[in-house]
Amino acid sequence: MSKILVTGGLGYIGSHTVVALQEAGFKVVIIDNLSNASTKVLDGILAISGELPEFENFDLRNKLKTQEFFKKYDDLSGVIHFAASKAVGESVGNPLLYYENNVSTLIYVLQELNKKDNANFIFSSSCTVYGQADKMPITEEAPIKAAESPYGNTKQIGEAILKDTCKANQNFNTIALRYFNPIGAHKSAQIGELPIGVPQNLVPYITQTGAGVREQLSVFGDNYPTKDGTCVRDYIHVVDIAKAHVIALKRLLNKKYKENFEVFNLGTGTPSSVLEVIQSFERVSNKKLNYKIVDKRDGDVISAYADTNKANAVLGWKAKSTLDDAMESAWKWQQTL
Ligand code: UFG
Repeated sequence: MSKILVTGGLGYIGSHTVVALQEAGFKVVIIDNLSNASTKVLDGILAISGELPEFENFDLRNKLKTQEFFKKYDDLSGVIHFAASKAVGESVGNPLLYYENNVSTLIYVLQELNKKDNANFIFSSSCTVYGQADKMPITEEAPIKAAESPYGNTKQIGEAILKDTCKANQNFNTIALRYFNPIGAHKSAQIGELPIGVPQNLVPYITQTGAGVREQLSVFGDNYPTKDGTCVRDYIHVVDIAKAHVIALKRLLNKKYKENFEVFNLGTGTPSSVLEVIQSFERVSNKKLNYKIVDKRDGDVISAYADTNKANAVLGWKAKSTLDDAMESAWKWQQTL
């Protein structure tokens, strides 16, 4: 039975991917340093799948521990690498933390995998690599723009490191998945997003406001050149994203790839404005959301939504859930917290 390492496997997208892997028959070992996750997530995973993944609690910045891990687990078929810091604002204030957490640790993992006869690696990338793209929807061919934040830069650098590694070693196979805006939770409401402190992202802020944890949502700007003046994004159910990882992994394991470094957008292709997301919440929760329009947030792109043709055609993957489906699951999860 194939064993897969999931770094950051107790985090938001990681935990949903662990469940999707288990459902597909894979054994999973998780590395997580619990910096933005809790061991309670293991209970949620067990409740859904009936199976407890192996769990190693350490920080990938510890190079020695990382080396020891790969010596102990010498039978891994693939690695899905989520472990990283992801707060854009924090990265501006503390860039070195982001370069260490997101770039140094990637290098340590790759150094170990590069010693093997064959390595299969899936990288968590982001639509942030496109910045404000000139054309919508955004294809994988769109130019990589200068990063707006150290966080965004770590995703660009990560992709570049992987591309070079794959070029130098034809037995090193990578798929980089560029996520648009993941939202929602597992339908069981056993796992979901667990923001620490005040959420920076729209959907957890909305559901917390709906639940009375926050008083009011601030909508950042309403005079953008979009359908209703608010920013437009591509919100995709986290379970659809998780399933794409399993499909990408199988592509690597079955040697179906055309090149040993490939990139795919993971989005729905449907553009939604901030006000449409609020309306979706109001529909599924039957509640009015308390919100006000405030000034624009620094660094926000106006619009970003995916051209999903490559993932549809090459991976045979398509997001199934609608915005309302995802919002309903996010609201169900919020009510368990
Ligand atoms: N928004 C609000 N109020 C809030 C929070 C967000 O109006 O309290 C708006 C934002 O201005 C934006 C939209 O909701 O228009 C989505 O904002 P998020 O913070 O949820 O998501 P972003 O698209 O800004 O950021 C996401 C990821 C980042 C990644 C980026 C790439 O969170 O990690 O996409 O574009 F870098």
